[in-house]
Amino acid sequence: MKKRMIQIYEDALELYVPNGGYSMNASESVVRDLTARQLNILRSPKNNGSAISDSKEYLAQLGVDIINNPQPIQFLPNTNEPVHRWSPYVQGFSAKFVQRTLSKYMREYKRPVILDPFAGSGTVPVQCKLNGYESYGVELMPLMHFIANTKVNSWTTNPEALLNVARHLSSRRTFEAPDFLRSQKQFNAGVLANLERIKSGIDSFEPASEQDKQIKDLMLLAFAAILIDCSNLKRSPCLGYSAGKVVEDNAPFDLFARKIEEIAEDLWLLQNWYSNVLGTKSEITLANSMEYEHLTAYDLVITSPPYINGLDYVMNYKIEMGWLGFARSHKELKKLKDGMVVCDNVSKGLIYEFVSKENRYTNDWIEKIKEEINRNIVRRGGYRRSDMAEIVHKYFDDMYRVMQKVAGALNKGGRFILVIGDSLIADVYVPTDLILARIGKELGLTIESIEKARTRRSGQIRSYQLRETIVTLLKE
Ligand SMILES: C[S@@+](CC[C@H](N)C(=O)[O-])C[C@H]1O[C@@H](n2cnc3c(N)ncnc32)[C@H](O)[C@@H]1O
Repeated sequence: MKKRMIQIYEDALELYVPNGGYSMNASESVVRDLTARQLNILRSPKNNGSAISDSKEYLAQLGVDIINNPQPIQFLPNTNEPVHRWSPYVQGFSAKFVQRTLSKYMREYKRPVILDPFAGSGTVPVQCKLNGYESYGVELMPLMHFIANTKVNSWTTNPEALLNVARHLSSRRTFEAPDFLRSQKQFNAGVLANLERIKSGIDSFEPASEQDKQIKDLMLLAFAAILIDCSNLKRSPCLGYSAGKVVEDNAPFDLFARKIEEIAEDLWLLQNWYSNVLGTKSEITLANSMEYEHLTAYDLVITSPPYINGLDYVMNYKIEMGWLGFARSHKELKKLKDGMVVCDNVSKGLIYEFVSKENRYTNDWIEKIKEEINRNIVRRGGYRRSDMAEIVHKYFDDMYRVMQKVAGALNKGGRFILVIGDSLIADVYVPTDLILARIGKELGLTIESIEKARTRRSGQIRSYQLRETIVTLLKE
């Protein structure tokens, strides 16, 4: 059946005339057999389109150009970098990008104070500390807050002591896998039992000193970092079952031991080669960046906010959240998700409430985009979410609130640097970077540059080219 659908789809693609609908020979039955989604893709006016042409009007109004500056901004290369590699975060960005940004402004600020209001796994604070720069992070997901905090505040831990404790954990099984998750399906029985043994061992280690507490945190971080590798799941970037994945029963012990060794190696490196930065302040706060009142003034803000349409961070990390005790039910996960910058997996109720909210941020671009999205949803006869226009609106309202707080905490001469991707939603191009740049301008910042770092493909219409950019805003 699947094969037949693919054949029909390919036939239809051949009959499709770009920009002009179907050729006269298109067989009615071929078109009838396609799913509504496939038909909408074929008929999309955005086929073979690009963000470049759809941005012209917005750029003209902003009075800026986009500079082409290809560079790696994704997390992947971090998996070989000390400390960054302790916990891979698909949504994280590249340590090299952060380093390049720090080096670029090194002379201007001398000793900059830096913030990341979407700290995630802590790429910015870790890289700042390696340079000896004071840094701050805000992160709403407790798991990520724990990971980032442990990554920056455990550098004085004795690596030998860590290895010693981790190698002699009690093997008595007292911990049980979180009952609100489908653990029996997510893990093979033997693997599950061994994970429960390791977690029980970590839990039974009673810290008697600050160093012991750091050891326990590092073991929990290592445990969280191996969970998906031990499971029948993969994250690419969303969490899903991986057909054919084979995991040996002893994988938890092997992977945990390897991760602890990796951390110990890096601690040794830090203590021998970075001893002058060990005392540098790094503070990660568990808070909502839309509401957080900054207590410090910053010279540089380097951040990568969630993208519209992007990932449901909470559901994507539910396994680690559950096993480490940061969430005990789906209800708790949902509550957490509702506080985050919106994604398109939020509850209808949250968006319903948003519609009647007073003082929502908006501008004529957002209103026009909303109108077009609503019109296209009617034309297409439906969409993943009928309230998509309001989700887009909420995204910018959320981001406005974060940017307002951050702009207020920037020193004069300070810079606010955002790494962000745009979106194509119901055949409507959403220039997220340009809208955030405009918000920055409205908040009194100057748009210093908008650099295109890489081209991406739209998940909806693969032939449509999107971009990822670095927006630099200056407080003059
Ligand atoms: C793209 S990720 C940042 C990744 C980070 N640059 C790194 O390298 O690990 C965005 C982060 O923003 C967090 N987030 C979303 N909404 C938030 C909010 N309202 N306040 C604080 N953090 C939030 C998410 O949990 C996620 O970790």
